Amino acid sequence: MILFFLVYKQKSEFCSKNTLFSTIKKLRKVKFKNLVIHNSLMVLFFFGVAFSPGFRLHVVLALIPNATSNFFPTFDFQLLTFRYLCGQQQHKHKMKHTIIAPSVLAADFANLQRDIEMINNSQADWFHIDIMDGVFVPNISFGMPVLEAISKHAKKTVDVHLMIVDPDRYIKTFADLGANVLTVHFEACTHLHRTLQGVKAEGMKAGVAINPHTNVSLLEDVINDIDLVCLMSVNPGFGGQSFIENTYKKVKQLKEIIVRNGASTLIEIDGGVTSKNAVQLVEAGADVLVAGNFVFKAENPTQTIADLKKLTTF
Ligand code: DX5
Ligand code: ZN
Repeated sequence: MILFFLVYKQKSEFCSKNTLFSTIKKLRKVKFKNLVIHNSLMVLFFFGVAFSPGFRLHVVLALIPNATSNFFPTFDFQLLTFRYLCGQQQHKHKMKHTIIAPSVLAADFANLQRDIEMINNSQADWFHIDIMDGVFVPNISFGMPVLEAISKHAKKTVDVHLMIVDPDRYIKTFADLGANVLTVHFEACTHLHRTLQGVKAEGMKAGVAINPHTNVSLLEDVINDIDLVCLMSVNPGFGGQSFIENTYKKVKQLKEIIVRNGASTLIEIDGGVTSKNAVQLVEAGADVLVAGNFVFKAENPTQTIADLKKLTTF
């Protein structure tokens, strides 16, 4: 029955309107990430479609010819079926979409709005905002009025990384300034669990950053309370430093802790991220890549973000 309708549909619509070969050509033009369609596989594809749930639906619709030809042109419907199959395949392999977060610390502060709009119009997912107090780290970046100005124009998630002592004092302030993710340093919090609850109570996602010398195992008892762990891959305080290679090991260890505890914590990498280490970081378990100098010092920051996104989506 199914095969009969496959032949029927191909003869009456596939062949008469597009011809089978032009249909194959059209299908090959459709770009599906991670899926390379070879000529030889196309034959298998048509048989696969014939026995797929999608095709059975196709056949059912074919039984009411007037309705289907008006509302579901055959080619489009085959394409939908194909997409459905691809969707199943992608799901099986858990497609990884890495979050790219350009660090505004490396932007041109004399042209801040231009750089914010660049991120808005790029494939970046988040704005990464570094707040430094000159006490926790040996540098001062920018404070509340600048963050307020950034938030006013930012159209994407605002990820605020506090490199300050006693961050509890400012949780509400940063919520009011437009932070969506608020990350505090493990080394700066005496009562980390309480701080995390405070961040969440203000409606933000709670992040914890750890310095390169801090062991990830120290987070195990609070991992289910943490939305994001920011692994510092440089010593915090400055942009443009070299990536610390030990980070790969830490990503894997942290991923194990997250999985073991059934947590849904994201792993963010901050410092010295480039196209050279991005793939290995994502393969190790990273979900969010912060990139400052690599993006803003590039000749074409928008393209650099797109390249980083493409490289880490697989
Ligand atoms: C370092 C900051 C980073 C920094 C990253 O203290 O937390 O976010 O801006 O900059 P790059 O990517 O240049 O190392
Ligand atoms: Zn940062």
